[in-house]
Amino acid sequence: MKRLGILTSGGDCPGVNAVIRGAVLGGDIVHGYGFVGFRDGWRGVLEQDVVPLPRRSVRGISRLGGTILGTSRTNPLRDGGVAAVRESFSRNGLDGLIAIGGEGTLAAARELCGHGLQVVGVPKTIDNDLGATDYTFGFDSAVQTATEAIDRLRTTGESHHRCMVAEVMGRNAGWIALHAGMAAGAHAILIPEHPVTFDQVAMWVVSARDRGRAPLVVVAEAFAAVGQEAPYSPRGLDTFGRPRLGGIGLLLEAKLQAMTGIETRATVLGHIQRGGEPTAYDRVLATRLGIAAVEAAADGNWGTMVALRGTDIVPVGLEEAVGTLKVVPEHRYREAAALFG
Ligand code: F6P
Repeated sequence: MKRLGILTSGGDCPGVNAVIRGAVLGGDIVHGYGFVGFRDGWRGVLEQDVVPLPRRSVRGISRLGGTILGTSRTNPLRDGGVAAVRESFSRNGLDGLIAIGGEGTLAAARELCGHGLQVVGVPKTIDNDLGATDYTFGFDSAVQTATEAIDRLRTTGESHHRCMVAEVMGRNAGWIALHAGMAAGAHAILIPEHPVTFDQVAMWVVSARDRGRAPLVVVAEAFAAVGQEAPYSPRGLDTFGRPRLGGIGLLLEAKLQAMTGIETRATVLGHIQRGGEPTAYDRVLATRLGIAAVEAAADGNWGTMVALRGTDIVPVGLEEAVGTLKVVPEHRYREAAALFG
């Protein structure tokens, strides 16, 4: 029997389990593949931590948040190397591997393919920042969760006549802030792609207050105001050497209160956005990506990532997939900014 390995690596996101189910069911029913899962991403590959993934193990999991396989930010190239991955392939009798991950995972997958290992990638991130795909699964769920939370901040803000600041995730892309901010009717949306001055933010806040509104500011974790050298990142680096973001909301709280005299409260939504059940949209997208990843493997399309283009799922080269960060284009920011203040 042909065998594929599956792993989920990097930050989890709603919909990962639906990909696993889509791959296992599609692989079993259509192609006669058997599957094993690696626990905690590349760590499981390097340490031979493997679980069988028969059809019954994926029953009913597409609506569950998190990942049944566990995840980690282990970098296979740094922590063990290509030889260890090759050894894991041969010990487990694998024809190939489906790697469900974000930027870091897909870059590692590309590198491993360069060494002759057969890998297909599935893009996974709430940040929606991968250039080769129109949307990543998990993004819709994160936006939904953030919007619900911001709606709640709004009602308490209105009762107390306060300015409320909601900080959302997204790494170097402002997609979650843009979508959740628009959905919640924020008076200012601050994203890394478009720095503005603290004075400008204060003007939007005062203008909203002067119209009798409780000002609502949505800020992306990597936003840096004009004059700020880099995004606020007091927590060092992650295992891929990227800054751990978070906390700009609290900085804004103090600044805006001092500049406007309006009582201000900030909430950092943090990992709440990554948790919980996927939306119906994400379940469908994730299931389709899982099925398509197995198709790509069956067609010998190794070294590709399955991507959403319009309404179709297509394989694209991993080279292209990790090459470009998809950031919010200026016209999308302008569209939202017309409603600020
Ligand atoms: O990439 C997904 C993401 O949730 C980012 O939005 C965020 O900056 C980061 O991961 C947080 O990572 P960790 O879970 O390692 O704190």
